[in-house]
Amino acid sequence: MSGVPKASVTHAGPAIMQPPEGRAAPVGDGVGPLLAVRGATLQYKSKNLVVTAAYRVDFQVFPADRFILLGPSGCGKSTLLKAVGGFLKPAHGSIELNGKPIGGPGPDRMMVFQEFDQLLPWKTVLGNIIFPMTCSGRFTKAEAKERALVFLEKVHLGKFAHAYPHTLSGGMKQRVAIARAMAMGPAILLMDEPFAALDALTRLRMQEELLQLWDELRFTVVFVTHSIAEAIILGSRILVLSPHPGQVRAELNAHEFSHENQESPEFHRLHRRIHAMLFSGPPDAAQAGADDET
Ligand SMILES: Nc1ncnc2c1ncn2[C@@H]1O[C@H](COP(=O)(O)OP(=O)(O)OP(=O)(O)O)[C@@H](O)[C@H]1O
Ligand SMILES: [Mg+2]
Repeated sequence: MSGVPKASVTHAGPAIMQPPEGRAAPVGDGVGPLLAVRGATLQYKSKNLVVTAAYRVDFQVFPADRFILLGPSGCGKSTLLKAVGGFLKPAHGSIELNGKPIGGPGPDRMMVFQEFDQLLPWKTVLGNIIFPMTCSGRFTKAEAKERALVFLEKVHLGKFAHAYPHTLSGGMKQRVAIARAMAMGPAILLMDEPFAALDALTRLRMQEELLQLWDELRFTVVFVTHSIAEAIILGSRILVLSPHPGQVRAELNAHEFSHENQESPEFHRLHRRIHAMLFSGPPDAAQAGADDET
């Protein structure tokens, strides 16, 4: 297994990543950000309690970024991803995709979760991948099948097209979920700790495969993790968040790191720096965003 140099190829991804013309998900104008999160405060409101999950968060994601949201449990990583997915509106601030406020979920943002049960158990692997493509009306049945087979090959599961999810290992299920999301040709792939429930060896392999796919297709991904090493290996940029409520501690570059140089002094230095950020005391402003009794 070899790590993939993270900036070794300059070509754009092949056309198969995008839906056919006229139905293409916009992927940015090449100048402005694809995704802009500005001063976003995200809250869950119930009758007597407001939980502030993320507080005044700012970040921008550009085409072909591998953008990592890194922070401790409960700091609002999944909530931020949900908001980008369109399942939650910011209480303050804004979240824009291609300059337009995100109004709700859409096929231009596909999600991959940690859980192994995200596939439809009554559909085959192929059926699972085809389903959102035809359901959303983005592709004809024939186009969807062709794309599904292409992406199944890309995740090395060509032989399992007709298998049912319960016959697959955890890693294989995650590969299917990744193929299903990528086959839609989304503007952004949203991944919420997709490898966290895998054993260490499978996790390593999946990280390498994701980097290989990215090297080939140059998709844009926002990837949530609480593993510092995973963030440095997979990310081109890392947004470090404080504990609950999540606030931006720092945004760091990690372009030059991969599995191959994870024993280098530079890798260890960045790891230690992030570790110190995550485990130092809460910033004063965190108090301002703490949960409010109403
Ligand atoms: N549906 C909900 N209703 C109320 N509060 C919620 C809800 N979902 C999450 N929260 C709260 O929002 C905060 C952030 O949760 P979130 O799931 O975004 O954290 P996270 O960083 O993804 O954590 P983990 O690493 O454990 O997955 C937590 O305090 C959590 O209790
Ligand atoms: Mg989470």
